[in-house]
Amino acid sequence: QMKQFVEDLLSKMTLEEKIGQLNLVAVGFDVTGPVVSENVDENIRKGNVGGVFNTYTPNAARKLQEFAVNNTRLKIPLLFGYDVIHGHRTIFPIPLGLSASWDMNAVERSARIAGDEASADGLNWVFSPMVDIARDARWGRIAEGAGEDPYLGSQVARAMVRGYQGNDLTLANTVMACVKHFALYGAAEAGRDYNTVDMSLNRMFNEYMPPYKAAIDAGAGSVMTAFNEINGVPATGNKWLMTELLRDQWGFDGFVVTDYTAINEMVAHGVGDEAKAGELALKAGVDMDMVGEVFLKNLKQSVEKGNVSEEEINTSVRRILEAKYKLGLFEDPYRYTNEERAKNTIMKPEYREAARDIARKSMVLLKNEKQTLPLKKTGSIALIGPLAKNQRDMIGNWSGAGDWKQAVSVEQGIRNVAGNSTKINYAKGANITDDEQMIKRLNAHGGELEIDTRTSEQMIAEAVKVARGSDVIVAVVGESQGMSGEAASRADITLPGKQRELLMALKKTGKPLVVVLMNGRPLALNWEDENADAMLETWFAGTEAGNAIADVLFGNYNPSGKLTATFPQVVGQVPIYYAHKNTGRPFGGELLDKYKSRYMDVTNEPLYPFGYGLSYTTFNYSKPQLSKNSITPDESLEVTVNVQNTGNYDGEEVVQLYVQDVVGSITRPVKELKGFQKISLKKGESRTVTFTITPEDLKFYNNDMEYVLEPGEFKVYVGTNSRDVQEASFTVQ
Ligand code: IFM
Repeated sequence: QMKQFVEDLLSKMTLEEKIGQLNLVAVGFDVTGPVVSENVDENIRKGNVGGVFNTYTPNAARKLQEFAVNNTRLKIPLLFGYDVIHGHRTIFPIPLGLSASWDMNAVERSARIAGDEASADGLNWVFSPMVDIARDARWGRIAEGAGEDPYLGSQVARAMVRGYQGNDLTLANTVMACVKHFALYGAAEAGRDYNTVDMSLNRMFNEYMPPYKAAIDAGAGSVMTAFNEINGVPATGNKWLMTELLRDQWGFDGFVVTDYTAINEMVAHGVGDEAKAGELALKAGVDMDMVGEVFLKNLKQSVEKGNVSEEEINTSVRRILEAKYKLGLFEDPYRYTNEERAKNTIMKPEYREAARDIARKSMVLLKNEKQTLPLKKTGSIALIGPLAKNQRDMIGNWSGAGDWKQAVSVEQGIRNVAGNSTKINYAKGANITDDEQMIKRLNAHGGELEIDTRTSEQMIAEAVKVARGSDVIVAVVGESQGMSGEAASRADITLPGKQRELLMALKKTGKPLVVVLMNGRPLALNWEDENADAMLETWFAGTEAGNAIADVLFGNYNPSGKLTATFPQVVGQVPIYYAHKNTGRPFGGELLDKYKSRYMDVTNEPLYPFGYGLSYTTFNYSKPQLSKNSITPDESLEVTVNVQNTGNYDGEEVVQLYVQDVVGSITRPVKELKGFQKISLKKGESRTVTFTITPEDLKFYNNDMEYVLEPGEFKVYVGTNSRDVQEASFTVQ
């Protein structure tokens, strides 16, 4: 039925009308690139537009939809897209934080709520999930993904797609997902945004491609290209990537949109002029041109010159029309523009409650000496730091249509949770940064940094005085939200500005020092780790940040998050990730062992490994037991482990399973995540956790790009993080 409808419509379209469908314009509130679309209303009326992004609210969307439906010959409705990254109006933790929950129901729920709000707000298409694997903490966009691991990243990708699209895209409360950025955007050299990617096929397929594939398999309706080149060919003009792999091998049948002006940028990549870039992109498999208008301006001539055939254009138009059909737009172009629904849906109390709960689940307890946490709800707290009273940064970077003025600060959260029996003594202590150029750049993009003009000595002195007069210090420090995200790479990943100096001075007071961190990437926190009594990673936790943080600080919620990206000791170790190769000269830690793969000035260990995170309680693991010691290549086996809550609180634990293929036709990582279960155990309770290792879990791509299971020895590691594990082994005959 859909195919017939689309063919009939296509047969009525002129070449100009077809090219118009391939054009995506940006109009409205948020600019995410160097240019903006012009003459949008007029272009819509002329039939030169297939979709619009950055316009929301039922009213604004309806107005533009009316232009398209009432003024164009064929009345084809528009797509309405938006960057819904971690919530639409109700904002959840940044995606790196969400993934740290290791709770796929929570991840899916956040995307479902975002989809419900977005669709009530005039939108039918979200530029999410971002599933780029990232192993370089310098890269600002590590904040937007699920971290370093392809297995976990694939689970998150699936959960997000399910959340946005639900079971039925034609329902008015679901939206089409857009998987991005295809592909390998997270592997930009030196962590500098938009930079070159050069990667072996085996690394690509074993380590970077799985989450894209998982999102496609989950039914994602669209894909966005990446800005980077891959092995010498820009992703946006890469036929191997977008046609051979994505469509022919993976069976993707949705449409591909470029990233913002990515076709135009192929000129700077060095492929030729704009017309040539447009031809390359279309032939490679791009269907929709975001903002750059290269298709609009050049494709007709390309057809006239015989460089592109009308049938090639038809192929892309069909895909766009099919997407509109799948969304039910031909049936009712205004199905996403119901004001009543918007009023009843957006930021309803139930959604804020969910945001609070999901935010708590994302937080990672990095250190807790002498049971400093949870805090007592009596006595006095020195609440110090540039992020302690801050609201602007709570919702993090790229927080869609979220309103930071609705966000709960840490100070407010503590008041809400601890009540009047806790006295709060506040001092700012430091600015987030004092670098004037950085401040200008952040403020140019909505940073709203509040800069205290006192000297840092004065600010620190005030904070020390406040600390001396209090029972415990809670220092809320970190980055400003704009220091991560797009075009926000950092070469120095320590705490910015004078914040470490502030912590050093606070430490000298001898009062218990609790560090609450907010940041969009792994930071290098050697000094903080050595000197803080307790340290809680809270990312940018969203609308309910302050309440969620206070819930954790005072023990209303026992932290359960685990890192999904390795924290280095120093930036020079980056890229650092747990699933590394052994090398021919692995370093065992001996001081005088010179000719080994090591540094002179720092060990190879991370500060905090992948999967790491503490709880207020403790968990004891038994040695893993295997159901068999030897299997055939098509058999599965079971791994069981007993986990006991041995501490004083009820708590949740993420039980992690890793596998190592000891000998391979290509070298294999020292371990790879192949399963995890988040379980909840009452104080004293124990549970047997069972994992099934299937043949699929043991396969990898060899250098001939065959997906193989090679017989031989496999090691199994089970534990509380990727480092602290116990081992067993089996053989595949
Ligand atoms: O969706 C984004 C993408 O992630 C980065 N460039 C701009 C797009 C649209 O805003």
